[in-house]
Amino acid sequence: MRPAMKMSDTRAGYGWISIALHWITALIVLTIWFVGSSIQTPDGMSQSTLRLHTSIAISAYVLLWFRIAWRFVKGHPGPLVKQQGFFYLLGKYVHYVLLVCIGIQLVTGPLMVWSMGEPIHVFNWFQIPGPYGMNMGLLDTTHFIHVWSARAIIIGTILHLGGVYKHAAFNQDGTFGKMLIPWADQQQPSPAFDRRAADDDRADSAGATAETLKNRA
Ligand code: HEM
Ligand code: HEM
Repeated sequence: MRPAMKMSDTRAGYGWISIALHWITALIVLTIWFVGSSIQTPDGMSQSTLRLHTSIAISAYVLLWFRIAWRFVKGHPGPLVKQQGFFYLLGKYVHYVLLVCIGIQLVTGPLMVWSMGEPIHVFNWFQIPGPYGMNMGLLDTTHFIHVWSARAIIIGTILHLGGVYKHAAFNQDGTFGKMLIPWADQQQPSPAFDRRAADDDRADSAGATAETLKNRA
């Protein structure tokens, strides 16, 4: 019988949904970031680049929120056998920081455009008018947060890539493979998770034995 396709995450690995979300949104976020970084030119703000930036971000808006919510709802998969300790935790918290910063961009971006007194342009397709008029105080605050959160995303991504490279080149522990195909659990189950699973099994069989004895009596 063919094994079922692993759509959801497992104890120590990612399923196809997480893998697809990771690669599609990594590409989108990096694109939005690079376009965003080209908005300011020596001659001032480039309106066409700004519109491209907001158009891509709004087109991917729901997908990006879904991706963030998916990780927080599903939780982070546990470590592989060789992935334990400080670096696993560092990686995990860098992942969460990246997701929080993407969420911050999705909130501050639209607030910024509306505070300029402008609607949000989505290609030549449609515009989203603001619920309020020009607001310089809010523009300053959201601009500050948007710029710093964008910096945190790029620093986090560099750290993230450094970590992935370290695992792939020096540890060769299957970390990169986790994000390519969902096979990690069968290959290298984590002893910490296995101990927990074994405890659960023992508890289950103790419960079952007690139940059987009760029924016999
Ligand atoms: C993942 C989502 C996003 C990322 C990574 C991102 C990234 C960036 C970056 C790197 C900049 C340049 C900052 C600088 O000047 O140093 C920028 C500027 C800007 N972004 Fe975003 N952004 C995102 C989402 C959005 C959204 C959803 C909107 C609005 C719909 C938006 C509106 C703007 C505006 C108006 C600027 C120009 C700020 C200025 O220089 O005055 N961004 N963004
Ligand atoms: C482009 C090159 C990239 C590579 C090679 C890469 C590789 C990986 C790998 C191997 C993992 C699994 C690590 C583990 O669980 O131990 C992972 C997870 C993760 N990566 Fe990346 N990544 C890249 C770009 C990005 C970008 C640009 C972002 C976001 C800005 C990002 C955000 C995340 C997050 C949040 C996770 C945790 C799992 C999830 O929710 O998807 N990655 N990445």
